[in-house]
Amino acid sequence: MKVILIFLVILLVPLSMAAARLLCPNVPHVSVPSVCSNACGTKYLYDHCTEAMRSGGIDPSPSHTEETTVYAILAAQQAIDSYSDTLDALRIQLQQNKSLSGPESDAYDGCMDDYVASINSLYVIAGPALSNCLFEKLVSLYMDAMASLETCRDRMLAPWMKKPPLYPKVERDRSKVVMAYLLGQLLAGF
Ligand SMILES: *[C@@H]1O[C@H](CO)[C@@H](O)[C@H](O)[C@H]1NC(C)=O
Repeated sequence: MKVILIFLVILLVPLSMAAARLLCPNVPHVSVPSVCSNACGTKYLYDHCTEAMRSGGIDPSPSHTEETTVYAILAAQQAIDSYSDTLDALRIQLQQNKSLSGPESDAYDGCMDDYVASINSLYVIAGPALSNCLFEKLVSLYMDAMASLETCRDRMLAPWMKKPPLYPKVERDRSKVVMAYLLGQLLAGF
């Protein structure tokens, strides 16, 4: 019993510590429904937002509040996790798929670079920027992160790409980085 309890405590520590650690001046503490309706202009995005926060372990009830920064960090982290899966898939295609044409492998190669650039921006966002309440460069960091993903998507949509199996992953990652931006831009100006 004791062992199980200790295990649970260890599992629970990271999020609660992240929440307790942040104390950015003037940044409001709000509920999931409230942060998601402030961030999202459509019902579709709002539903995505509440689901993302719930799946990230935040109580989505209107009575539970977190510092806005916590939501932005979680969304950036979720984009990073999602990218990692795509990066693995890109690597596997490049290493193992013998039927890639020259332009196709160029596109996948290019996407590796795009993803590395985008994930680096997200690391700066989730780490030094958000975790230290440094919001000044946020919007341009998000813009860089989104632009790199957009570049990869364009590569995937080139006329010579034959129904690239990775396209759905890139679309999924685009929606994650957009969600990260929507939540993070609420902090611009603080
Ligand atoms: C290998 O690449 C071809 C050409 O793009 C693609 O049609 C096929 O689905 C890929 N194979 C795998 C196992 O992903």
